[in-house]
Amino acid sequence: MNPTTAVPGIDPAHEAARSAGLDPARLPKHVAIIMDGNGRWAKGRGWDRTRGHRQGADVVRAITTDSVRLGIRRLTLYAFSSENWSRPQIETSYLMRLLDEFLRGELATLQENGVRLEAIGRLDRLPSDVRATLDATRTATAANRNMALCLALSYGGRDEIVDACRAIARDVAAGRLDPQSVDASAVQARLYAGACRFGADDVDVVIRTAGESRLSNFLPWQAIYAEYVSVAALWPEFTITDYHAALKEFQARERRFGGV
Ligand code: FPP
Repeated sequence: MNPTTAVPGIDPAHEAARSAGLDPARLPKHVAIIMDGNGRWAKGRGWDRTRGHRQGADVVRAITTDSVRLGIRRLTLYAFSSENWSRPQIETSYLMRLLDEFLRGELATLQENGVRLEAIGRLDRLPSDVRATLDATRTATAANRNMALCLALSYGGRDEIVDACRAIARDVAAGRLDPQSVDASAVQARLYAGACRFGADDVDVVIRTAGESRLSNFLPWQAIYAEYVSVAALWPEFTITDYHAALKEFQARERRFGGV
């Protein structure tokens, strides 16, 4: 389904939001999700943790498609944190292979849905073949305009801020930047994603599955005014209905941004 192929006078994204019981005028532009509970889901069934990750990839597919349908502009998914490198090598390798498979398998759907693939994190740590698939997918989808699907890979929020500070220091040392002109937008421009074309730099809502209530080094700069929604379902069993319920909870919150 492509939201740009509309029947004249009818906005399909608005219709989709309304039929999900959501207010189309107050949808978040930028949704960020901490996909937690893959291991627990598999373990609870007596299976290997990797099976939870594979099932989790199917949920990524479903939530991405539904987000485009609703008219969300940016979806950032915490797919692999900088801390996840400390997991057993068998699991990190599996996750890398799964990511590669996902990117290859999803390209046609991303194109069909007008989704631009982006990635944030210390991507130089990814295996070179996975990095090549990632780069090819980013290039192939760069012109898509309906939604950005941003994968946080080898991502840590503190690393991101440190890397932005280093970029600023380099620009100042090279005489390209006056220290007096360093402001929030100068930092924003040096974050991994740069400045977002959809005006959706800031995260509106962070959803975390598996009943956890931690930020875990995820988007500390971008999420300062985000609403936080914790969902009991484990990621592999997270449904479209759970997703819409989380978005409804977001819409029920009063956002004051420090005002009254
Ligand atoms: C956290 O659950 C999840 C991860 C570390 C990996 C997330 C990966 C996916 C959802 C699948 C692959 C993603 C893409 C984009 C193809 P956990 O394993 O820490 O769960 P636990 O806390 O129950 O052990």
